[in-house]
Parts: sequence; C-alpha cells; structure tokens
Amino acid sequence: MPALQKMVVDCLYDRDPWQGFVPDASAVLQGWNGDHGSLSRLMTTPGSKLVVDVGVWKGQSTIRMASAMRDAGIDGCVIAVDTFLGSPEHWADTSLFQRHWGMPDLYRTFMSNVCAAGVRDYVVPMPQTSVTAAMILARAGLSPSVVHVDAAHEYREVLRDAQEYWSILAPGGYLIGDDYDQSWPGVIQAAGEFSAQVCRPLTIELPKWILQKA
Ligand SMILES: C[S@@+](CC[C@H](N)C(=O)[O-])C[C@H]1O[C@@H](n2cnc3c(N)ncnc32)[C@H](O)[C@@H]1O
Repeated sequence: MPALQKMVVDCLYDRDPWQGFVPDASAVLQGWNGDHGSLSRLMTTPGSKLVVDVGVWKGQSTIRMASAMRDAGIDGCVIAVDTFLGSPEHWADTSLFQRHWGMPDLYRTFMSNVCAAGVRDYVVPMPQTSVTAAMILARAGLSPSVVHVDAAHEYREVLRDAQEYWSILAPGGYLIGDDYDQSWPGVIQAAGEFSAQVCRPLTIELPKWILQKA
C-alpha cells in the first residue's frame, strides 16, 4: 500500500475498506468526461498528491487520476466521494445501472472497476454526500492538493461543493469542475460566481473549469 493511501485509511477508517472485497467481473466502466487531459496532467505537478474526486460514478475520473500517479511513480491517493446513488438525471435511466431492492449497485461497480484497472492501492472509497465528506475530511485534517468536483450539476449544489472543497484545498492546489457547458447553465453560473468570490481567475478547458488557490 503506498504510504499516502495508508495514512488516509488510518485517518478515515478503523480498517482497510478494500479488505475482503470481491470484485464483480461483469462490471462495466462507463462515465462522462473522466478521461479529460487535465485530470492526468495535474497529477504530475510538484507537491503532495492527495486528491479528492467528488462524484465518481463508476470510476472513470478516479481511475484516470490514480493511473496517472501510478504510471509516474508518485506516492498519491484519490479519495473517491460519492453517495453511489446517482444524480437526479440518472434516477429513471435504468439502462445505466441495476438496482437491488431499489438500491443502486454503483458502489460495487465502482470498486470492481478500480480493481480491474489495477489502481486499488491508490484509491480510498468514501461513500458519503459531498458536503458531509468535506466536513469529515476537514475534521481529519486532510488537505488535498487537487479536488475534482463532478457531483450535482445544479447551481446551488455546485456553488456549495466549490466553497466546501476550496476551504480544505491546500495553498497552490487546484479545484477542477466538470460540465462547463450550455446544457448545464447552473454550472456555468456557479463557476463564474465562485471565481469572483475567491478572486481567482477561471481557466476553461472545455468542459472542465479550473481554479488555482493562491
Ligand atoms: C456525472 S456523475 C460523475 C461522473 C464521473 N466523474 C466519471 O468520471 O464518470 C455524478 C455522480 O455524482 C454523485 N452525486 C450527486 N450528488 C451528490 C452528492 N450531493 N454527494 C455525493 N455524490 C453525489 C452521483 O451519485 C453520481 O455518481
């Protein structure tokens, strides 16, 4: 286990959440914008590579960032935050995932995909809401160098996620948001307002929006 992953596990859990996990060999990796170039590029900037991925779905963005660190020989860790329940736009689309007794099976799918990609040692799953996870991470004293926010896409939620994760982001760290696109006007509004609030310029690499903390 890379040193950083062990430190995170010790901070958040009483035992390794991967212990005893049996992957589902039929799990399929599908996602949205998780293979964007910024996600791997920002993994190889200097400094500690504690990363929080907020909104991970089946693991595409988490795997992209974890693989980049593994391939570059970096001692890094991605804390993967998600309710694993899906967003409002997913609720009725039964082609995307299965339910068991009404409960989506996204957590096992995510865990299985991470195992299949060979990056289990770089990922700590955190099944929690975005805001509560930020609170837990703050209390644990964990200060990430990169946060990728891709959970809810409504204005209030995006703004709140940006605010909560900015407050725990390390100086010089990067906040990356997803879906800066006309089809998500709430994301565009929240990204612009947040940039003005923290007086930091917004860099757009469609569909990602990126801010660096001073
Ligand atoms: C667009 S998907 C993420 C896609 C993923 N980054 C990828 O690479 O494919 C959005 C995810 O955010 C999660 N989500 C939505 N609202 C959330 C919240 N308030 N807290 C935690 N997760 C949330 C959903 O369960 C869903 O898995």
